[in-house]
Amino acid sequence: MNDNTIESLKQALLFSPDNVPLKQHLAEMLLNCGRFDEAQKEYEELLSMTDSTSVRFGLASIFYNKNEYSKCNVILEGLLQDSPHDFDLLLLHTRALLKENEIAQAITMYKLVLEINPGFSDRELDSALRLANTSSVESEYHPFIQMPDISFKDVGRMDAVKKEIELKIIHPLKHPEIYKAYGKKTGGGILLYGPPGCGKTYVAKATAGQVNARFISVGLNDILDMWIGNSEKNLSDIFSIAREHKPCVLFFDEIDALGASRSDMKQSAGRHLINQFLQELDGVDNDNEGVLILGATNTPWHLDQAFRRPGRFDRIIFIPPPDNFARKSIFELKLRNKPTGEIDLEELAKKTQGYSGADIDAVIDIAIEAKLDESIKSGKAHPLITKDITDAIKRHKSTTEEWFATAKNFALYANESGLYNDILAYLKITK
Ligand SMILES: Nc1ncnc2c1ncn2[C@@H]1O[C@H](COP(=O)(O)OP(=O)(O)O)[C@@H](O)[C@H]1O
Ligand SMILES: [Mg+2]
Repeated sequence: MNDNTIESLKQALLFSPDNVPLKQHLAEMLLNCGRFDEAQKEYEELLSMTDSTSVRFGLASIFYNKNEYSKCNVILEGLLQDSPHDFDLLLLHTRALLKENEIAQAITMYKLVLEINPGFSDRELDSALRLANTSSVESEYHPFIQMPDISFKDVGRMDAVKKEIELKIIHPLKHPEIYKAYGKKTGGGILLYGPPGCGKTYVAKATAGQVNARFISVGLNDILDMWIGNSEKNLSDIFSIAREHKPCVLFFDEIDALGASRSDMKQSAGRHLINQFLQELDGVDNDNEGVLILGATNTPWHLDQAFRRPGRFDRIIFIPPPDNFARKSIFELKLRNKPTGEIDLEELAKKTQGYSGADIDAVIDIAIEAKLDESIKSGKAHPLITKDITDAIKRHKSTTEEWFATAKNFALYANESGLYNDILAYLKITK
């Protein structure tokens, strides 16, 4: 299938040989398919047409793959002068230095890699280079940047959500040149909303994992709770950090914190912050390409309308409570590392209709506490069985009902352009 794409890209280039994005796409495909000589030819031609970083980086990758490490390093040194904090440049440079046996230099580079992404690990580099004591340095650096260990396969069901995210975010990220060549605008973010504890944060993280991108998670309340004058600087720092770490998913949790209903947001300082946030979203002063923006809120109705204009959060997706299948897999996941006897997952899922993922956490906690009590009294440890958990379910009510009571009113009486139709559908209300 790649071969077909390559052939059609070549054909297209015969007709528009000066189309840089198209040519660049071809070069990347060739590189990814391991057709290094052909890729090299394309990249070298591209060099005379454009001087973009990605072209030179592509060439460096080719030299690396052809075991021509010193050429690779020369290019990377040049690129790093302009962008000394670029993760991909630093990583490739680390590898190529190691191949050249420049251990001291490689260690220096690898430290920079780990500063940017403390969670990063790589078997070969770790065993050759990782120093015993890097953790103290790591923790000072952007602790909110993670390399996620989950992807879509870990998210039970939610097919509609996954599909929407693929169309809107993942395809444009993977094939930016094609989108550009056809003049299709990319950008804009997705807003996830729904009752608390039902997987908004989880699916955002899985999106990053799905495309092997870093996950930068920011609680807007954290930013706002700092001194208001400083919030703006924090906000713009976060966007620049994200731009330095592309590709990444930049996730704004509690985005309603910027909502107009907050009294301090009605004042001019708050207004100013909202405007700055919107401006950063629009990428007016900067380029957001490669930065995938996701937001989450439990109360979308408190969000300023300006957030939903095209190019901002122009898709809004409902994340419902996990369905039967998803609840089964959540139970399975959460019980995996606990001492268990006979567990009827089907039964547990059936009895937790409407429960959120967080509710299921709570239920298991309650069951374990009861079990501990019992074990201490009897002096014997017993594994958890189905009945322990069904007893706990009786003691913990679902927390999503309250949310739906409020949401229902907005869906019925403030449902501009069908924004909340998904809520009505979930509640099986026909209007
Ligand atoms: N579809 C799902 N598949 C697997 N786990 C889920 C799913 N939905 C929720 N969870 C679990 O529920 C927990 C709470 O979800 P979270 O994403 O923090 O909720 P939210 O951000 O919507 O408040 C997560 O830690 C996750 O383990
Ligand atoms: Mg969350």
